[in-house]
Amino acid sequence: MARVRVANDKVLMELVVAVLIMCGCGLVVTPAAAGSLVPALYVFGDSTMDVGNNGPLPLPYGIDFPHHSTPTGRASNGYNVADSISRLLGFDMSPPAYLSLTPQTSREILRGLGGVNYACRGSGILDETGNKSNSLLTMTQQVEFFAATKSNMTEEYAGSKGSVAIDTLLSQSLFLISTGGNDMVEFILKPGQVSIFYAQLLSSYTKHVQTLYSLGARRFGILDVPPIGCVPAIRAMSPTGECVGLANALAKGFNYLLGVRMARLAADPEWSEMTYSIGSSYNLVTNFTADPEAAGFRDVATACCGDGRFGVERWCQANSTVCENRNDHLYWDGLHSSQATADKGAAIIFATPVEFGFAAPVNFKQLISSTHALF
Ligand SMILES: *[C@@H]1O[C@H](CO)[C@@H](O)[C@H](O)[C@H]1NC(C)=O
Ligand SMILES: *[C@@H]1O[C@H](CO)[C@@H](O)[C@H](O)[C@H]1NC(C)=O
Ligand SMILES: *[C@@H]1O[C@H](CO)[C@@H](O)[C@H](O)[C@H]1NC(C)=O
Ligand SMILES: *[C@@H]1O[C@H](CO)[C@@H](O)[C@H](O)[C@H]1NC(C)=O
Repeated sequence: MARVRVANDKVLMELVVAVLIMCGCGLVVTPAAAGSLVPALYVFGDSTMDVGNNGPLPLPYGIDFPHHSTPTGRASNGYNVADSISRLLGFDMSPPAYLSLTPQTSREILRGLGGVNYACRGSGILDETGNKSNSLLTMTQQVEFFAATKSNMTEEYAGSKGSVAIDTLLSQSLFLISTGGNDMVEFILKPGQVSIFYAQLLSSYTKHVQTLYSLGARRFGILDVPPIGCVPAIRAMSPTGECVGLANALAKGFNYLLGVRMARLAADPEWSEMTYSIGSSYNLVTNFTADPEAAGFRDVATACCGDGRFGVERWCQANSTVCENRNDHLYWDGLHSSQATADKGAAIIFATPVEFGFAAPVNFKQLISSTHALF
């Protein structure tokens, strides 16, 4: 029982603590950064995607990030999945954190190129999730910040032809969303009625997607909720150390409904230009966990960084034990994947044929190759 309490407190702690272009270039639609497959990437969600909007995280976070003397705010030993996907699209890494932008770094962005990362660790699908932290950007705020970015782009390209150019670039760009894990963890700690919870999540998710669509988003790359019952912090709540089935079922049930909802949205004439892929973090992590060796892991249960049972009794911090071969570990800390997991997962979601169940209704590569009615 004592252990369960410790784990609970740690999860809460993490949630509370962590719940943290001017070129005169006229109307020419410039091609994306050399070699990239889309003009830009706009990233939304939680710590799975955050590259600094909730402030830096101290070492050993970022221990494998190049030049890691500057912590980046990624909840990882190195790059996160926003970086992995960005790299597959031909960029160096994730676009910059919205809150780190300066007029100098915004030049290309305001021409619709490269993109912005609005994700913030601790946030959820619901604005209440993680709201005890002042530094939190909720999903609603993230979408509002994108609206501000777009309005500056439009101004940058002043004139009606300019807005056509911007809308064209946005329609070809990828809107990446990964969120929901924090909502689930909070629900597990303070349970209510599941059907009401799901309805709230779906309604909020739909609203965000529709708002982004109304601002010009057409291609949505969504990551679903991983099997949260298997993260070290939740495993530690189970006396046997097995994955907590009910927590996994909560995520799986939501993921199913999210798939149905997105299919319905995309089939609605009002949103007919919407294209999407749901990458299944759930199926990926389940697959890695079921046969670690085949996936190239040796440890799929314990946090690489942290101490005590499953590495979550004392959360990952400056004086924590850090595992030697980070690439062997599925999890970096009690809640978050390692860089190795992000890289392997992104590659699978990107290109594995859909029959394997890691993306639906198309994979990310097919999503960004698709053309739609507008062009
Ligand atoms: C956080 O969410 C709860 C539940 O909806 C709400 O009662 C509370 O007022 C919110 N707090 C803040 C600071 O927004
Ligand atoms: C938009 O422009 C305003 C006024 O120039 C500036 O204060 C703001 O930071 C810009 N926002 C973005 C997202 O570029
Ligand atoms: C994991 O997925 C691969 C396909 O990428 C499949 O061949 C393998 O059987 C799966 N492993 C498990 C344990 O489901
Ligand atoms: C690590 O540091 C924290 C806070 O600075 C402290 O409470 C804890 O006891 C230290 N742990 C170890 C194993 O030294």
